Amino acid sequence: MKFESPAGRNPIDQGRVVGVAQPRIDGPLKVSGLAPYSHEYHAEAPGVAYGVMLGAGIGKGRITAIDTSAAEAAPGVLLVLTYKNAPRQFDIGHAPPGSPAPKKGEKPGRHNAPQLQGPAIKHFDQSVALVVAESFEQARAAAQLVHVSYAAAPGKFDLAAEKQHGTVPEDAPDSVVGDFDAAFAAAPTTVDVTYTTPDQAHSMMEPQASMARWDGDTLTLWTSHQIVHWAVDGVAGTLGIPTDKVRVISAYVGGGFGSKLMIYGDPILAALAARQLGRPVKVALTRPQIYNHTSHRPATIQRLRLGADSNGKLLAIGHDVWCGNQPGGEPEKAADQTKLLYAGANRLLRTRQTLLDLPLGASMRAPGEAVGLLALECAMDELAEKLGIDPIELRIRNDTRYDPEKGPERPFSTRQLVECLRTGAERFGWSRRDPVPGKVRDGRWLIGYGVAAAIRNNLTVASGARVRLGGDGVLTIQTQMTDIGTGSYTILAQIGAEMLGLPIDKVRVELGDSSFPQAAGSGGSWGANSSGAGLFYACRNLRDAIAAKAGYNSTDVQFADGRISANGHSRSLAEIAGHDGIAAEGKVEFGDLTKQYAQAAFGAHFAEVAVDSITCEVRVRRMLSVCAAGRIINPQTARSQCLGGMAMGIGAALMEDQIVDTRFGYFVNHDLAEYHVPVHADIPDMEVIFLDELDDKSSPIKAKGVGELGICGVGAAVANAVHNATGARIRDYPLTLDRIMAKITVPAVA
Ligand code: MOS
Repeated sequence: MKFESPAGRNPIDQGRVVGVAQPRIDGPLKVSGLAPYSHEYHAEAPGVAYGVMLGAGIGKGRITAIDTSAAEAAPGVLLVLTYKNAPRQFDIGHAPPGSPAPKKGEKPGRHNAPQLQGPAIKHFDQSVALVVAESFEQARAAAQLVHVSYAAAPGKFDLAAEKQHGTVPEDAPDSVVGDFDAAFAAAPTTVDVTYTTPDQAHSMMEPQASMARWDGDTLTLWTSHQIVHWAVDGVAGTLGIPTDKVRVISAYVGGGFGSKLMIYGDPILAALAARQLGRPVKVALTRPQIYNHTSHRPATIQRLRLGADSNGKLLAIGHDVWCGNQPGGEPEKAADQTKLLYAGANRLLRTRQTLLDLPLGASMRAPGEAVGLLALECAMDELAEKLGIDPIELRIRNDTRYDPEKGPERPFSTRQLVECLRTGAERFGWSRRDPVPGKVRDGRWLIGYGVAAAIRNNLTVASGARVRLGGDGVLTIQTQMTDIGTGSYTILAQIGAEMLGLPIDKVRVELGDSSFPQAAGSGGSWGANSSGAGLFYACRNLRDAIAAKAGYNSTDVQFADGRISANGHSRSLAEIAGHDGIAAEGKVEFGDLTKQYAQAAFGAHFAEVAVDSITCEVRVRRMLSVCAAGRIINPQTARSQCLGGMAMGIGAALMEDQIVDTRFGYFVNHDLAEYHVPVHADIPDMEVIFLDELDDKSSPIKAKGVGELGICGVGAAVANAVHNATGARIRDYPLTLDRIMAKITVPAVA
C-alpha cells in the first residue's frame, strides 16, 4: 500500500493497547539469558568450529611476508586463511551475474566487505588472517603464532592537517539561500566560532559476531545486524552468490547505534571458512578489534557564523563542516539540522570531505544532527549571551513554520519546538537560572543550567509484514524488522493487538529473519514508524480476510475482545480462523508526503551541572527532555530510547573521544576501559516528557522516529550548562576537566 495522502481515523486511534506503557514482551527472555544472540546458537550448529580474526598492525601500507606455519601446526587448528589462500570476493559493482547489483547512490564499502584480498593494508585492524580451530581457545592461541611483516606507508590520519584538501561530497552539496556574506557583514551582532567533535565509538554491548552454516550451496548466517536485507545483499554480493542463497537471522541484537548497518570481517570470514571446512564456523570480534576493524562516527571541524539583529532575529546562518573518510566513505552531514531548525533569510551551508586513511567512518546514532547540534546549539548560546537575550527566548524568536530553504510551500507536518522549550522551561525551573556564570554555588560546586533545541529529520522506509491468526486465537507476526534493544517486539505486538482486538499476550512476534517479508529494519529512527505502518496494512488485510470468511461486510465490523462483530452479531476470531488459520501480508511504501512537508521530530533538552570549582570535575545533576515525535506507540520503550540517547549525549559532551595516533593511524583507546562512556554513576535523575502529537503525514500510524531525537542536542545542553557554571566556553569536545580548567573564568571557593 502506498502511503501518499494524510491518514484518516483508523483503528490505531482507539488507543486501547497502542499509546499505553507496556513492558517489553521479550524482557523475561533477555533477563533469563534465553534470548539467543548470534553467537549463542548451539543446536543449529553441530560440530561448530571457531575462527579468530587477526587484524593488521599498521594503519597503511602492505604485508611483505606472512608466515602461518606455526599456527597451522598448533593443536586443534583446522584452517588458516590469509590473502594467499582466501577465495576471490567482490566489492559493490564488481560482482558476477546473479549477485546483487549496486543500488542508486551505493558506494563501495557500504554493504560489501571483501576480506583478505591482497597484501595492501588500508586501515589498522583490517583482517589479515583467520585462524579456525576446534575450540575458541585453540584458535586464539594459534592466531598469536601467525607472523606478519609489514612495510608501512605514510598515511593521512589528521583531519585538521588534511581539511584544506576537502571536496564537496556528492550527497552533501552546498546549500545557498539569499546572500550570506552580505547579511553576515551587515549584521549588528555576530558570532564566528569553530567547534570540533572527535571520532566516537558506538560502544554497543554486543560485539559483532556471526555463525555461518552451509547446506549445499545455501548459506545460513546468524549475525548481529540492524537491517537483515542489507546483510543479505552485502554477504551475497561479497561472496558473489545470488541473494536467494543467503538466509540471515538476526533475531536479537545487543545494540547497534549504526555500527551494525554494515558488515565487517566476521560474517564473511565465517562464511568462507565454513564453506571450506564443510562445518559451521563462528567468528566474533573482540572488544578491542571493534574500534579499528569496524566503523566509527567521524570527527568534524565546524565553523558557525551567526548574524542577528538587535532583537535576536537571525539575519545570516553559516555552517561549514569539515570531515574525512576512507575513499567511498560517507560524509558526516553535520550541517543537516541547520537547514531546518531556525528561520533566517540568508544561509550558507557547506560540507567538505577529505580522504583519510583511518578506519571507515559511518553512521552513529543520529549521524549528522548529533554532532551538528553540538556546535550549532552552543553557537546559539554564545549568540544569546552576546545579545543579552535568554537562550530559550532567542530560539523562540527564530522559530519557523516551514522549511526555511524551500519556503512556505513546504510547511512542517508538525513542529512543536516552541512548546517543547516552554514546557521544559516551566518544568525544569529555568527561571532559577542566573545568566551570569559562576553566580550559583553549592559549597565548592558551581551550578549551571543549559538548554538546547533538538531536531531529528523523520525518515520513512518501505516495510512489509506477514500475519497469521491461528485456531488458538493467537496472532503471529513475522517481519524482517529487527529489535536492537529498542522495543520493536513490543510495539509491533501492541499494533497487532490493537488492529485485531486482541490482548497483547495473544500476539506472538517473530523478527530478524530474511525468510520473512522485507522490512525497514532498525536505522535512522525509521524502524518503529515504518515497520509499524507495514504491519498496519498487513493487519488491515487480515481483518478484511477474517470479515470475508465470517461473511461480514468489512466496512462496518468491529474487532474487540478476540471477537469480530457487526450488526449485533459476533463471532470469536479463533473459531473463524479454524484449523488452518487465516494469513495475510501487507507492505507500506511511502509517496511524496516527505517532499511536500518537512517532517521532523523536535525536542528541548535541559541540563543542570555541578562543576567542582577547584578540580573542574563535572557532574550532571539533572536532565529533562521534552519531545514531540508524533504518536508515541509505547511511552515506556520510547522513554527508554530517550534516556539512552541522553546518556550518550552526556558521553559526547564530557568523555567520548577516540584518540587518533596521527603517527601510526589508529585509535589508541580501543576498549571500554579507555574509551569512556557514562556509567550509572554519571547518569543523574532524568525525566522525559512527550507532548501529545499525531502526525497524519508521516504514516498511517501517525508516529515518527524518536530514538535518535534523544541524543540530538543533549551534549550542547550540557556544554552550555558548563559555561553557565564556570564561564568556560569549550569549543573542543569532549569537555574534559583539563579543558575546563584552562578556561574557567570564575574563582574557586576560598
Ligand atoms: Mo542508526 S546511526 O541509523 O543505527
